[in-house]
Formats: sequence, C-alpha cells, structure tokens
Amino acid sequence: MIKLSINKIGELANAGSLSLCYTKLMLDLNEYGIEMWPEEKIQAFRKALLDWYDDNKRDLPWRRTRDPYAIWVSEIMLQQTRVDTVIPYYERFLHHLSSISDLAQAPEEVILKLWEGLGYYSRVRNMQKAAQQMVKDFDGQFPTTHAAISSLKGIGPYTAGAISSIAFNLPEPAVDGNVMRVLSRLFEVDYDIGLPANRKIFQAMMELLIDPERPGDFNQALMDLGSDIESPVNPRPQDSPVKSFSAAYLNGTMDKYPIKAPKKKPIPVAYQGFLIRNKENQFLLEKNNEAGLLSGFWSFPLLEKGAVVNKQVSLFEVAEEVVQPDIRQSFTELYGLTVDWQEQEFDTVQHIFSHRKWQIELIEGISDSSTLPDSKELKWVSVEDFPTYPFAKPQQKMWESFVKAKES
Ligand code: ADE
Repeated sequence: MIKLSINKIGELANAGSLSLCYTKLMLDLNEYGIEMWPEEKIQAFRKALLDWYDDNKRDLPWRRTRDPYAIWVSEIMLQQTRVDTVIPYYERFLHHLSSISDLAQAPEEVILKLWEGLGYYSRVRNMQKAAQQMVKDFDGQFPTTHAAISSLKGIGPYTAGAISSIAFNLPEPAVDGNVMRVLSRLFEVDYDIGLPANRKIFQAMMELLIDPERPGDFNQALMDLGSDIESPVNPRPQDSPVKSFSAAYLNGTMDKYPIKAPKKKPIPVAYQGFLIRNKENQFLLEKNNEAGLLSGFWSFPLLEKGAVVNKQVSLFEVAEEVVQPDIRQSFTELYGLTVDWQEQEFDTVQHIFSHRKWQIELIEGISDSSTLPDSKELKWVSVEDFPTYPFAKPQQKMWESFVKAKES
C-alpha cells in the first residue's frame, strides 16, 4: 500500500477534503504493477526536474502572473490548442475582458468573437457561466480552495489542479495527456492513457511525486517536458533531464510507451453550403440557434445532404430519413427565396471536429427576393460587416473557397 507523508495528509485535512484524502489513500499502485520510488529518489527526481525547469522554462505570458483569473483563461485555452496559437488569443481576451465581472456580463457575441478560431466553443460558454457563479457565490472573487475551484462550471480535475497549483501553490497534480505520457515512460505504465478510467492511476502517482514546495512549477515542468523533449512524435529522450529515472529509456522500451489505442475516426457528414447574394451584394447569413455544435455562430446556410427537408428540420439537426430530391429546390422552399443559381465551381470545404468530418460542397446563387422568413434568424450582410459576426472555422473556409474561386 502506498503511504502518503504525514504532511500530505495534514494538508488535505486542513483543506477540509478528508473524503478526497480517503480516495487518494485507497489507490494502491502496486496493484497496478507500478512500484513507486523510495522517498530519496522522489526528492532527487523533483530536484532534477525543477533545476532543468529553472534553466529552460518557456517565457509565457501566463507565467508572469499569479492572477487566478488570467491563469484560468490560459489553462482553458491551452486545453485543446497549442501554446503558440494561444498567446495572441490570451492577450486579446484579457485586454477586452480583464476581470471576472467583465466576463460574467459580456454579450454572447463578444465572447464568441474573442474565441473565434480556437474551436471547442463550449469552453468559453462554460467560462462565462463559471464567472457568473463566482459573482453569485464567491463575491466576485476567484475561489481559493481546490474543492471550490473544482465546483466551477467547465473546470475538471486537470484544470482545477493546474489553477490550484500555479495560482495558489496548492500541492495538486494537473494530469493531462503530456503528463501521462511522461509518467508512462518513467514507470513503464501498462495502462492506456486514452481511457478516462485510467487517469486515477496517474493522479495517484502524481500525488506522491509532486513537489509540495513548488507544485505549480513542478506541474508546468512536466508540461514543458511532455510537449517538447517527451513529445508524442520524435521524442528526444537522450536530452531529458530525468532520463536516468526513466525505466523506458533505461530498458530501451521508449517505442512501447505510452500505451494508447488509436482514436476512432470522425464520422463524415456531407453538407451543401449556400453562398447567396442579393442585388446589393450582401450575403445571406443565418444564426445557428440550436444547442450543440457551433451554437450562436453565424453561417452561410447549410443543408445536410440526404436530409429530409421540411420546415421543421433545422439546418444543424441530423435528419431522420434519407430522401433528397433536389437540394436547390429544398433551399428555396425552406428559405422562401427565388434564386438564380450560378455555374461557378468551388473547392470543397473540409473541416474536422473531434467526432465529425464535415464536407461542404458550395453553390452560388443570386436572389432578388427582399423578404426573409421569420422562422429563422437570417440577415443580408455586406462583406465589410462580416467581422462583426462570429464565424466558426468551417464558415471561414467557405468564404476562403469563394474568394479563391472568384480570384482565379
Ligand atoms: N499547457 C497547459 N498548461 C500549460 C502551462 N501552464 N504552460 C505551458 N503549457 C501548458
């Protein structure tokens, strides 16, 4: 049975998380075939890792602050997005919404615009709900305990650990894919890091390894190591500051770890996209008011190919039956427009979400109808005004394809 130090138990009891403490103590790493190092080796490991971090850490904007709000913004952005991409988004977001109350009160279109291009938009919607929770339940302040931070909308175990350790110096692990990969190699862990049920194994390992004096730096050192020297492709294990601790490196099994089953392929979905102009050269845009994927965004109208098209089926809903006589006719009926269809050819747009692969064929039309159906949120918008409408990646790609065809 793994033993936690008295200090660790004391900290947990003081933080009022004795039930958490119980679960932490229950997981016996030996049962998973993992033998934790003795205390002296753990200490030597912490020192080697933190010395390396002190000399090599990346100078990132969120490492120059202890403001939990800013650190939270960075951690949410970094969940599915690379550091280089995140930096300008992070700076712009904090410039426009510099406090919890700013975020709590911001209109939906502002937050979507600030997130435009980052994808996984539920992240920012949840952030706004969490900011509203902080205004309501925490006096507008960022909560300071791990349990309270974990209670916020959109904050899972990884993010709670990252904020607790980085902003509040609490000894909480932040276990993400990078950290699991590094640990898998250090200990030759024979459990699939892609299975959520296995996360607890890595969490338990981190409880024992984390440096109680510098938990935020310890977590971030592992993140840096995992995203560069110990990256998934072309790792450079010979450059690792902790290679002498790594069972996989010493045993020549680096190729085997981490264990990770290949991801399921995203399911293809075919759409027809409609680039419809009126005589004033304004384009038809539609707001997606459905909950779910790309909710709240504006888009050139899209119809799923093979969908049953009647007035009840929304654009973004999956249809029930596969009958599609003529998609142009379906469009004119649904939108109540007469359209003069153009013969222009466009590159097909492809966009991959985590579970879906959208393939969008484009068609151009000119309409002289002036009225639009009330049942949908539709607008004629001139190209100069596009920047005021939140456009998700597939719609940006549709526009790029249109512009490219017109320029060639
Ligand atoms: N990825 C997630 N959090 C990070 C952080 N704080 N620094 C660098 N990369 C990260």
